[in-house]
Amino acid sequence: MRPIRVGILTVSDRAAQGIYPDESGAALREWVQAQPGWTVAQYAVVPDDPQAIRQALQAWCDAEGLDLILTTGGTGFGPRDLTPEATRPLLEREAPGIAEALRFYSLQHTPFAMLSRGVAGIRGRTLIINLPGSPRAVRESMALLAPVLPHAIALLRGESGPAAEHRQRA
Ligand code: MTE
Repeated sequence: MRPIRVGILTVSDRAAQGIYPDESGAALREWVQAQPGWTVAQYAVVPDDPQAIRQALQAWCDAEGLDLILTTGGTGFGPRDLTPEATRPLLEREAPGIAEALRFYSLQHTPFAMLSRGVAGIRGRTLIINLPGSPRAVRESMALLAPVLPHAIALLRGESGPAAEHRQRA
């Protein structure tokens, strides 16, 4: 099995300026590195600027061909919370079930979960998921996603599901 290559994009004006450390990005890196066969292939901190977000996502999908991109931050109601708006136009296929499940599951932890407007979907062979911008939210979200992501990525790679079965029969 090829390693699962992950991009971590922290979206935060203050973390990008170095005003505070990127704790949610660090929590994501730690989580990814703890998964056998997974690797952090890209990591960046960008301000809440849609163009900067788009540029990173597009490069990591189209040039790098990462399996998975996890963004953290910028999903709320603040005037500069624009991560979903930057992500959505890049998605070729939305995966609303992932965003819905994250909100639904997170409501068990906090009613503020309903304030996250994060989206998820597929560009090429890359799955992109917007997560909220706190280490706690990141850890809670990854606990939900952990059992599902390997299968989702295998499907995207054509290693599992009807496409793979077809190839095996041919
Ligand atoms: N989801 C989980 N699982 N845990 C949390 O602590 N915090 C919420 C929500 N989702 C939270 C969560 C809060 S307080 C906000 S404002 C929104 O995510 C948006 O966060 P963001 O603007 O940092 O992306």
